[in-house]
Amino acid sequence: MENCCCGESKLSGILARYQGQDGALIKALQDAQGLYGYLPEEVLARIADYFDHPYSQVYGVATFYAQFRLKPRGENLIRVCTGTVCHIMGGPQVLAKISEELNISLGETTEDNKFTLGSAVCFGACSQAPVIMVNDDIYGRVTPERIAAILARYCTGV
Ligand code: FES
Repeated sequence: MENCCCGESKLSGILARYQGQDGALIKALQDAQGLYGYLPEEVLARIADYFDHPYSQVYGVATFYAQFRLKPRGENLIRVCTGTVCHIMGGPQVLAKISEELNISLGETTEDNKFTLGSAVCFGACSQAPVIMVNDDIYGRVTPERIAAILARYCTGV
């Protein structure tokens, strides 16, 4: 686990903070993800032990909610809007093109760790559908033809 040595005491602090609270598991998972950037298996096991839950239950929660990541995130996070308007306006084709360009599926990270492909439900920019975000940059009226140029902005040396 990355940052295991220095992160361990911080994780203990997080767990202690939520002991006995309602919704403690979700909050602890959120904070642990904030600490590590994702939720490694070891961290899930530690959280399960601490709250005396079966590992399968904690894993189930972590995989149920889209906000949690079980794998490290790439340098750049691409989020494709899967909201209704974007879906109608061509979002699935945009997603397919990104997936093809990067050779990864939704939720995966490229081998060079440059990009992680994720999704989100509505960025509140439906008038510009279909919309994608790369890190904090929002792109509207995206077409499959624009994808290569957009991705190139995040590749050094391109
Ligand atoms: S549905 Fe995509 S931005 Fe609203």
